[in-house]
Amino acid sequence: MEVGGEDCTKGSSVHGNVKEYYGKTILTTDDIKTTACSPSIGTMRNYVRDTMKLIHNDVIAKFFGCGITLPECLAGMSILDLGSGSGRDCYVLAKLVGEDGFVTGIDMTDEQLEIAHKYIEYHRNVFGFKKSNVKFVKGYIENLKDAGIVDESVDVIISNCVISLCEDKQSVLQEAFRVLKNGGEFYFSDMYSDREPTEEMKNNEVLWGEGMGGALPWRRLFSLAQDIGFEIPRTVSARIVDAIQPDIKASVGDTKFVAVTYRLFKLPTNIIREPKDVLYKGEIFGHEDEIQFDCKLKLIRGIPQATDGDTTAILQSARFKNEFSFRKSGNYVPSFEVDDPFVLAASSDGKSWCTDI
Ligand SMILES: C[S@@+](CC[C@H](N)C(=O)[O-])C[C@H]1O[C@@H](n2cnc3c(N)ncnc32)[C@H](O)[C@@H]1O
Repeated sequence: MEVGGEDCTKGSSVHGNVKEYYGKTILTTDDIKTTACSPSIGTMRNYVRDTMKLIHNDVIAKFFGCGITLPECLAGMSILDLGSGSGRDCYVLAKLVGEDGFVTGIDMTDEQLEIAHKYIEYHRNVFGFKKSNVKFVKGYIENLKDAGIVDESVDVIISNCVISLCEDKQSVLQEAFRVLKNGGEFYFSDMYSDREPTEEMKNNEVLWGEGMGGALPWRRLFSLAQDIGFEIPRTVSARIVDAIQPDIKASVGDTKFVAVTYRLFKLPTNIIREPKDVLYKGEIFGHEDEIQFDCKLKLIRGIPQATDGDTTAILQSARFKNEFSFRKSGNYVPSFEVDDPFVLAASSDGKSWCTDI
């Protein structure tokens, strides 16, 4: 395991509490005190589900994510997982990027890194790769520079239920923006609230560890991300999260929580934003009939779909730009509208609203 330049024994008291929580207090997924850790496996694509079956049980047992952060079209990509924990998502991604791609997981908690690191050789062998294409680095995601992640070096960043545990969310997003290449994507799941958590909630170590005390009111993510330079966040899926234990229920009072998967894109500054008719060629592995870009936009093979200027700019710049052809649109296309994740989640009885990414 590589160790970042920063001395990871230092760090804020929040870092210390979260390390204690994920290193010693919470030992398996069953110890989590909310419904956060139960993203529906049934919503996964077959090729993702098949890959998941190859992951070692010890790694799976310590999965603490709140969503499915495994986007499409990954062959040959360089991936970074912020708060990689025991490494479940890293290992699935290592298989999906193939031997020409590479996955780096970064985490600050020794116990989590130890499990992740222990199974590198096991997964290399199961995947039939000559050389392992995954590594785990110890460090803080607020400071990726100290962990050796250089500017514009990453195609896709993922993160699964981690940013809500960080005090300095702006630094996390800024660092993600810095290390992404132009056209790169940050695809992540996290907990969000319908209002600012109270000071009492923020100071409650268990609530913070569970991702509720530090959950961002969802609209704030939009202003934070756009101020840094990302495109408007695109919502993939949303699921209501409830407290399981009575003491947690009492501590959160009326505050509501939702686990949301968002995709954030970093585009070149000089990109032209014009509505276009977009045609999906049907060649992305595992998504040959259609590609569900977000909870609203589904692109069906061979059927032109009018998209607004911002969405077209994303499709023309991201790693999958060659998977589409673009024609000037004769149709009026309304501009993109933001989705309220609580409305999305409520419209599906609390299950993932958008089911097939
Ligand atoms: C809820 S767990 C999720 C782990 C993993 N993403 C998964 O899906 O199983 C949160 C992880 O983020 C790590 N973490 C939290 N804050 C961090 C920070 N500021 N820097 C690095 N790692 C952090 C913790 O050590 C823990 O392993």
